[in-house]
This record gives sequence, C-alpha cells and structure tokens, in this order.
Amino acid sequence: AIQRTFSIIKPDATERNLTGGVNKMIEEAGLRIVAQKRIRMTQAQAETFYAVHSERPFFGELVEFMTSGPVVVQVLEGEDAIVKYRDVMGATNPAEAAEGTIRKAYAKSIGENSVHGSDAPETAAIEIAQFFSGNEIVG
Ligand code: CMP
Repeated sequence: AIQRTFSIIKPDATERNLTGGVNKMIEEAGLRIVAQKRIRMTQAQAETFYAVHSERPFFGELVEFMTSGPVVVQVLEGEDAIVKYRDVMGATNPAEAAEGTIRKAYAKSIGENSVHGSDAPETAAIEIAQFFSGNEIVG
C-alpha cells in the first residue's frame, strides 16, 4: 500500500553538505519527497521526538547531537514507504549497514548516523504531525 514515512537528515549529514546525496538515494529508491524543510531543532522538540528513548543511557547525547546543527525534516511517500526507507537507510550501526545504503555511504557512527526513518505506521503519523501541518504536505 502507499504509505508516508517521516525522515530526518541529521546534523552530521547537513554539516557535510550531504542533503542532495541523501535525497538522490531516496528518489532513486522510488520514494517521493512530498514535504521538506531545514530547521534547527530545539531541545524541547528533540526531547519530545525521542521521548521513547528517555531512559536510555545515550538520551542526553542524542538530544545534544540532534540540536547541534541544522536538520532537514521530510515526509516521504511511496509503496511500503516505511520498510522501503528503512532498507535504503541501512542498519543503525554503519559498521553493520549493507552496501548501497545511506548509512553505509555516509554515517560516521551509531549516534551520528546521518538519517532517521519511522519504524511503523503509528509512529510515522505521530512524527509527521510533530513537524508538518497538512497543507505543507503536497503529494
Ligand atoms: P534513530 O533512528 O534516529 O533513533 C534513535 C537513535 O538513537 C538512533 O537513530 C541512533 O542514532 C541513536 N542511538 C542508538 N544507539 C545509540 C548509542 N548506543 N549511542 C548513541 N546513540 C545511539
């Protein structure tokens, strides 16, 4: 089915001018970028976004990293977009990411791993709604 997923191009990638490189891999995978904006995430936004990880030992580091520079938030649309984008991203740990994936090409470490993608339809809807209003998404 046609789905939407939420994507973030993280500060390690924007800092190295990799927005276009990531977008090329997204589009070549058959996903359409139906919304996109470059923002500086506030601490409150990052804490809300990653609330599910608030008890993890790396939570502070994660919030600090995600607010350390610009990010590009996106909505991607396509057939099975959630699983498809996770396949294009590759494993969270770039050392385990397959050839041809975004993280294999660009990620620096498990924390500075260049991109985020939603893990399920329910989280995709919540994440999209945190950053986009309906009229900003043009399918
Ligand atoms: P993301 O998919 O954005 O969602 C949770 C993030 O936590 C994940 O990407 C990683 O970047 C980050 N993360 C997971 N494990 C670790 C870790 N051990 N140390 C630092 N960051 C981590």
